[in-house]
Amino acid sequence: MAKAKRRYVCQACGSVQSRWQGQCPDCSEWNTLVEDSGAVVTPFSARHNLRSGGRAFELVGLDSEIALPPRTSTGIPEFDRALGGGLVAGSATLMGGDPGIGKSTLLLQAAAAIATRGLAVAYISGEEAADQVRLRARRLGLGQAPVRLAAATSVRDILTTLSEGPPPGLLVIDSIQTMHSDLIEGAPGTVSQVRASAGELIRYAKESGAALVLVGHVTKDGSIAGPRVLEHMVDTVLAFEGERSHQYRILRATKNRFGGTDEIGVFSMQEGGLEEVGNPSALFLTHRGESVSGAVVFPALEGTRPVLVEIQALTVRLASGATPRRAVVGWDSGRLAMILAVLEARCGLSFSTAEVYLNVAGGYRITDPAADLAVAAALVSAMAERPIAKEAVAFGEVALSGEVRPVAHSALRLKESAKLGFERALAPSALAGEKAGLSVTAFRTLRDLVDHLLGRQ
Ligand code: TYD
Ligand code: MG
Repeated sequence: MAKAKRRYVCQACGSVQSRWQGQCPDCSEWNTLVEDSGAVVTPFSARHNLRSGGRAFELVGLDSEIALPPRTSTGIPEFDRALGGGLVAGSATLMGGDPGIGKSTLLLQAAAAIATRGLAVAYISGEEAADQVRLRARRLGLGQAPVRLAAATSVRDILTTLSEGPPPGLLVIDSIQTMHSDLIEGAPGTVSQVRASAGELIRYAKESGAALVLVGHVTKDGSIAGPRVLEHMVDTVLAFEGERSHQYRILRATKNRFGGTDEIGVFSMQEGGLEEVGNPSALFLTHRGESVSGAVVFPALEGTRPVLVEIQALTVRLASGATPRRAVVGWDSGRLAMILAVLEARCGLSFSTAEVYLNVAGGYRITDPAADLAVAAALVSAMAERPIAKEAVAFGEVALSGEVRPVAHSALRLKESAKLGFERALAPSALAGEKAGLSVTAFRTLRDLVDHLLGRQ
């Protein structure tokens, strides 16, 4: 028999190379190529005529009746919300997140809630011993929930065990990187192992009607370890995010074949596990005392859900000619540099001799471009030591020209701000006037905002 050809698979992008190299030629990652014998590929011996021998099916119209997939509530409304209404029977969901963020905790809580309602739940842990999971369940007050638990890593053992009884309604695999399929060579966690194990488990879910949830580790760059292909294989991809040093966690769908990806679930990590946060704005805007310079509230949007956060800026004048520091927490440092440049070039404010610190309170991370105007307002306020009225919020996108651009979902942002007791908004000019019960001070350019904050008009 001919010796199997060596092949090397990139653990970052999944590309296959014929020789080992330090850097993957496809994704340019370093030290990611691993030898991998892979599955045996059956050679295509003959071309067959595909126009016969298959099963003919009926093509239907878009207006035919829709059979909505049955959903199972996780018993945790914030979790259901991120899923678009609950877990779908026979579907596969991948939950990714940094180690220690709370994936196992959340899934154990959901597993217990579902099992308590009478649905069979199997929780397979490849990371922790059964006793560790049981201890955690007890700490969470879930020790009595009828979850069926096992510590296992062999996909064959798992599927053999499950096939002996009626299929569970929910099957949790924590985590896919610890699973091992004996159909494939290679250590658990390698691309081909992850792919093969996930493939078998997903096939089981589809055939048995169990809702499958796979836990996936996230690598430094934020992608789920193993190949991207895993994200293609599942129906739903959830990202569990947050700063470990802060309590709040956001569960976000980044792919959902059964629903939208614009809803998030918000949790806070407490002694007794993950608690739902119904009103996220209240979490990030805890104690708002007197107005201080450099602080402004920004109505951010997470999907369709507004979250009010405080942006804080501090500037420190440098006496010497040392290079001033710019430090950012919770926002993009490139974007801060851009706002500073626009303030300098278009508004005549110089930050070149000042250190600039920018912080988003509560450990929240803003990705919404509408934060530009709020950041600019915080910077100007810090620099001029003029507080922004504490009953005001600010939002708008700033262009390199200095123009203040309108942003998506302005009405929602204003509504949420009004609901939380804010009275004024600094916003793009399209919103001038009275909106949603807020008095809007509108700006066409960043210079207009600077003039307003410095009392020049
Ligand atoms: P875990 O669910 O094990 O994270 P993951 O599975 O994503 O790696 O969560 C572990 C962290 O959560 C750990 O640092 C302790 C903290 N934690 C709490 O704060 N409260 C709790 O009730 C539990 C169970 C964990
Ligand atoms: Mg875990």
